Amino acid sequence: QERRPLVAVDGVPLPQKTWENWAQIKAFQAKPDDLLICTYPKAGTTWIQEIVDMIQQGGDPEKCRRAPLHERHPFLEWARSPQSTGVAWADAMPPPRTLKTHLPVKLLPASFWKQGCKVVYMARNPKDSAVSYYHFLRMHQLLPQPGPWPQFLEAFMAGTVPWGSWHEHVRGWWRAREALPLLFLHYEDLKEDPGREIQRVAQFIGQPLVPAALERVVHHTSFEVMRANPATNRASAPRSVLDQSISPFMRKGTVGDWKNHFTVAQSEHFDRDCASKTAGTGLAFRTEL
Ligand code: A3P
Repeated sequence: QERRPLVAVDGVPLPQKTWENWAQIKAFQAKPDDLLICTYPKAGTTWIQEIVDMIQQGGDPEKCRRAPLHERHPFLEWARSPQSTGVAWADAMPPPRTLKTHLPVKLLPASFWKQGCKVVYMARNPKDSAVSYYHFLRMHQLLPQPGPWPQFLEAFMAGTVPWGSWHEHVRGWWRAREALPLLFLHYEDLKEDPGREIQRVAQFIGQPLVPAALERVVHHTSFEVMRANPATNRASAPRSVLDQSISPFMRKGTVGDWKNHFTVAQSEHFDRDCASKTAGTGLAFRTEL
């Protein structure tokens, strides 16, 4: 396999396996009891996926080891074979299904709106998202390389990275709360108080946890436990796809690592850009705890 350029669909740069199969993804038939986990890349998708599965499995970690996470939750826009994406895989899955997507709201297949599916959206502050994305693209062997950090930071701000603009993604899904049953979570809140946020997720999906089960979910989905767990750490991914010798998939899992990457000038420039793009939305992000 070789690296292929991104191609824009409706102005959103997407990886090859996604744009190639766009007609199939757009026509995806959601069902009313589908649960959609939606994030901009690197917001903690894997983390919230494992949390949701643990809740659905009643807090039993053994049941969550049945398969690697990327096989438990079909990823709508990713390829399962040269001819098909996660869509075909989701089609074959018995309901109730839990699905994953990074699509911005304007590219969400129409059937999700029609069926009024529940959505769990996780957002992460843009500075840590940019840093995490940079390291992910360095180790990802099929997506475009990020280049040097200053160059990548400009691309991130301009939205010329896979799945497009962080700002548009977050703003769009924030507004979608008005039209869909959507739980909007913040990575930083989960770091601050995992028990509180996990119980919010459990209540949203209609499976509240008793204290002992909640305790188990908190433990099993901690960064350290997930980093050591082959069902969540992508250790079995071939080096030709994810080269974890460059940067581990479970990298740091903290709030504030941006301080180790941004210069003062970059930080000020980024903050100004961000303020202008999120003005008036009521959205706020914490960049430290
Ligand atoms: P870092 O690169 O900052 O470490 P995604 O799953 O959307 O690709 O997001 C990956 C980011 O979430 C990585 O961030 C990863 O370390 C972090 N992450 C994964 N599991 C986590 C957990 N249990 N707790 C905190 N962060 C986690």
